[in-house]
Amino acid sequence: MSATSMRTHMSGELRSEHIGQAVSVCGWVASRREHGTQLAFVDLRDHTGVVQCVVDNGVDVRSEFVIRVTGVVRARLEGTVNKNLPTGEIELGECVVEILRTAEPPPFPIDARADKVEENTRLQHRYLDIRRERMQRNLRVRAKVNSAIRRAMEAQDFVEVETPMLVPSTPEGAREFLVPSRKEPGSFYALPQSPQLFKQLLMVAGIDRYYQIARCLRDEDLRADRQYEFMQLDAEMSFVSQDDVLEAISEAVMAAAEAATGERPPAIERITWHDAMNRFGVDKPDLRFGMELTELTDAFASTEFKAFAGAASIKGINASGKAEEMGRNKLDGLTDRAKKIGAKGLVWLKVGADGSLDSPVAKFLSADEQAELLRRLAGVPGDLILIVADDWEMTCEVLGTLRNDLGRPPVWQGPYRYVWVTEFPLFIGRNKETGKPKPGHHPFCRPHPDDLDKFETDPMAVRALAYDLVLNGWELGSGSIRIHESDLQRRVFNALGISDEEADKKFGFFLRPFEYGAPPHGGFAFGIDRLVAILAGEENIREVIAFPKTQSGSDPMTNAPTPPSPSQLAELGIRTLPAKV
Ligand code: AMO
Ligand code: AMP
Repeated sequence: MSATSMRTHMSGELRSEHIGQAVSVCGWVASRREHGTQLAFVDLRDHTGVVQCVVDNGVDVRSEFVIRVTGVVRARLEGTVNKNLPTGEIELGECVVEILRTAEPPPFPIDARADKVEENTRLQHRYLDIRRERMQRNLRVRAKVNSAIRRAMEAQDFVEVETPMLVPSTPEGAREFLVPSRKEPGSFYALPQSPQLFKQLLMVAGIDRYYQIARCLRDEDLRADRQYEFMQLDAEMSFVSQDDVLEAISEAVMAAAEAATGERPPAIERITWHDAMNRFGVDKPDLRFGMELTELTDAFASTEFKAFAGAASIKGINASGKAEEMGRNKLDGLTDRAKKIGAKGLVWLKVGADGSLDSPVAKFLSADEQAELLRRLAGVPGDLILIVADDWEMTCEVLGTLRNDLGRPPVWQGPYRYVWVTEFPLFIGRNKETGKPKPGHHPFCRPHPDDLDKFETDPMAVRALAYDLVLNGWELGSGSIRIHESDLQRRVFNALGISDEEADKKFGFFLRPFEYGAPPHGGFAFGIDRLVAILAGEENIREVIAFPKTQSGSDPMTNAPTPPSPSQLAELGIRTLPAKV
């Protein structure tokens, strides 16, 4: 397949079975070593690997020259076989070397040593960075994942439909990138945070099952799992229940995982949002390790210890075996971390060799309370127990964070633990200015049918038919069954503090079509960059994106973003303010 008019084989695929054959290979000079005065060893690299070529010492090739070598495959001499190299049993002899292009010395070695080079330098010369085995592997894993997703979606009758990149502002929560309009100076397009509104309109349009490997853009602070531009598998289905959506998406995720790792994951388990919070303290639980949050509220129902007395929620975690390594400084660090999140304090107790509790607050806890605490948390000598008392949300959040801090392996480390988190709340938190609830996901999620009567009386207790997919503690994706009736949509908008009039003005273009026969529908989107990073064994999604932005949002290779010329600005009717210093 990879033979061309210039080459017969790829460098990395030559083996003993090719001995005696005349072959041509093309690629880059990975290294050159003198061998006596007559000969030199040249390692020729293409994306499949390297092969050793024995060339005349007079051939002047240096690192990263592009060459074509025609030679005969022969066995290496006894004692020179390299067991660490797939091509290590053979070499090319009788070589004719053609220099296709010379090269300047590269700014960093094109091999694993570049992992230690400053990331800015790697990104500035990304085309050299990608020449390396690690990046070649990552981008090829990504291509396999994309291809497996397409196959899985098509096998399930999803139709690929492209949606526009120049769109109006959409209410999804993240800050948007704006694009000025030349024809209508002063007006702007937004770049899509996701194809959300369009995919729902495609359901009104009778497409039935839509998917797209879609580029999404959000002007967020960048992190290991966040880029301005990222890719989603975006999907939407008509006439479905939540189970239908979860099954279709599971199929795509499992096919992608199998394509990348060779192993199909087991059926994906499910947990409700409430259980996830209660047991793991976060809505993206990492199921690879224990240290679960343990309920202690009733154990301290009649405690004399002031910090616990009357608390709405008391929970603890057992950091097994960590008593010794957690000295006073580290414990103070944990307490500071807890307080920064909003806790009033953090109780720590070390289980001593005789099973007694070593802690500044042990004296405030009765013998019964101490015994019950140890029983529930299964405390044994050497364990470190951490306890928080607060309202339920705070207790969960603080202990969930500490649990991850103390126990979480790197995200890519196996085993892969996928989990569907279901029954997200329809609203999470309140708008600081208006006091109105904020949408848990976006305003088009369908309330849980069993909770409709709580809508006006206890909105924060209303669950949504909304779900996330989580892998090893990273949110892979989100989705929901949608609202397809205008009266229900109006109730949700009103709860969010959006009047009918305002809803019409803001979302009219989206809501009006629903009056022309919107089918019941639901969908999902998952982040391909995140899935690929984990499957490729990477901590940061930048490593699986060919041309990513740095943490500060720039591209050291192209220098984007750059200031526009005065004439470009004039044409757009834009005047810029001086940069803030
Ligand atoms: P949501 O906003 O949760 O849902 O996004 C879905 C998934 O996209 C990925 N993702 C990102 N990946 C990299 N960088 C980012 N900045 C970034 N932001 C999000 C995550 C996330 O889980 N339209 C809805 C889906 C729906 O309701 O159908 C949506 O976009 O993996
Ligand atoms: P205080 O009564 O504030 O002196 O706190 C006594 C100990 O209890 C300190 O170690 C605090 O960090 C801890 N503490 C105080 N309030 C809480 C709380 N709500 N949850 C857990 N620990 C707390």
